[in-house]
Amino acid sequence: MTATQTIFALLDLLAISLFIIGLHYLNAPPTARFGNRLAMVGMLIALVVVLVGTLGIGWWAIAIGIVIGAAIGIVAALKVKMTAMPQMVALYNGMGCGAAGAIAAVELAHGVTLDPVVAVSLVLSATIGAVSFAGSLVAFAKLQELMTGRPVTYRGQQIVNAIVALAIALLLALFIARLGDAAAWVYPGLVAAALLFGVLFVLPIGGADMPVVISLLNSATGVAVAVTGFELSSPLLITGGALVGASGTILTVAMSRAMNRPLTNVLFGAFGAAGGAEPAATGKQQNVRSVSVDDVAAMLAYASKVMVVPGYGMAVAQAQHSVKALADQLEKRNVKVLYAIHPVAGRMPGHMNVLLAEANVPYEGLLDLDEANAEFPTTDVALVIGANDVTNPAARSVKSSPIYGMPILDVDKAANVVVLKRSMRSGFAGIENPLYELPNCSMLFGDAKASVDALTAAVKEL
Ligand code: TAP
Repeated sequence: MTATQTIFALLDLLAISLFIIGLHYLNAPPTARFGNRLAMVGMLIALVVVLVGTLGIGWWAIAIGIVIGAAIGIVAALKVKMTAMPQMVALYNGMGCGAAGAIAAVELAHGVTLDPVVAVSLVLSATIGAVSFAGSLVAFAKLQELMTGRPVTYRGQQIVNAIVALAIALLLALFIARLGDAAAWVYPGLVAAALLFGVLFVLPIGGADMPVVISLLNSATGVAVAVTGFELSSPLLITGGALVGASGTILTVAMSRAMNRPLTNVLFGAFGAAGGAEPAATGKQQNVRSVSVDDVAAMLAYASKVMVVPGYGMAVAQAQHSVKALADQLEKRNVKVLYAIHPVAGRMPGHMNVLLAEANVPYEGLLDLDEANAEFPTTDVALVIGANDVTNPAARSVKSSPIYGMPILDVDKAANVVVLKRSMRSGFAGIENPLYELPNCSMLFGDAKASVDALTAAVKEL
């Protein structure tokens, strides 16, 4: 090994270590930003090492690619709305696995006398990359509402999917068995089948399940990248890919658990498809009690403990700063304000934590599901701000409900529940929420931000 190679290897090791340590710091919200920065430094080192290592080889093409990619990335990251993050992740994921697949395709096209191990890894990463690329683009189109976000189902769908999966397996086997001598159509056929499978696989998956699928595709991308790393003998790609693959898998499983649904049910259950077991919400729940801002303000101002329960609606209304201002007002009056964070509140993992952190809500006040549920029986007011499904008691008792078994925030156990939302429309699961008809529950209708601002002003007046 020359001195330069040793330096490069050590820098690779440093970048990999920073990825792993950064990931570790993502374990807890207070250290997550630091973890992110460490991983960013790791990525910068990795990029520089790769760039310097390839100096002279298509340098200009690489530089132009970086400038264009970075410009698009920076503008998109600055402009994207928090609520549009899932589709942005889907799109970026699609690009990542598309790149891994494309590298494999180029290598394969050049390597006529391939080493069998390299050839197998090439064809595997091209296949996984193609599935994940096509699947991510469909996920993006669904979330961006370029097509219906509901599950697209038809008779015999599972059979069609199984046939395409089988075709991929056969083509893979054919390619590997006749390495180098396989007919010219086998490889393009394999990639085409993999692209088709990516589309077919994501089509029947519905809105609320999309984040789970994106996370799964993300882990597939990690695997494709790691396999590409074997072809290119790059420890950086192998480790980076493995980390993405492992963390994506853990996140996928964690999300399925938080919804209490087996992953197979998420992937093959067509949640929310027309004709499901539970009729969609009619939006006509009759026995609900509407309250005024002044009544709620008085309830909050004279409470000793208030639990804020944020959900997707808080994100839509961008009400997080207003929520913090209301909490400050209440705390001035010695009201204890806590926040109940459901693991799948909002539309992406950690959605509520990110928003509340942006509004400088102290991490210590954020309770996870179990901690919050222990507090509700001694809570005076549960202030539900744009959350719906994650508070739906049907999950505890109605066996036919699509969310039956999903752990929920037991807001109904608080002395009073006030729900801030605009109408009686349902949440993501599309079902009615019996919480709203309970005697201790009242509704404050309106945009969450406007309602919270009005509450803050009214509390100030008291
Ligand atoms: P949802 O059940 O989707 O309810 C959000 C509520 O916010 C709606 O009922 C809506 O009612 C209200 N809303 C919307 N815009 C508003 C605004 N501007 N002001 C006030 N209210 C507004 O949200 P949730 O309770 O956070 O539950 C999340 C759902 O997503 C769950 O079903 C979960 O399983 C699913 N999901 C989440 C994830 C992750 S990782 N977070 C992953 C997979 C699935 P109005 O229209 O009447 O205002």
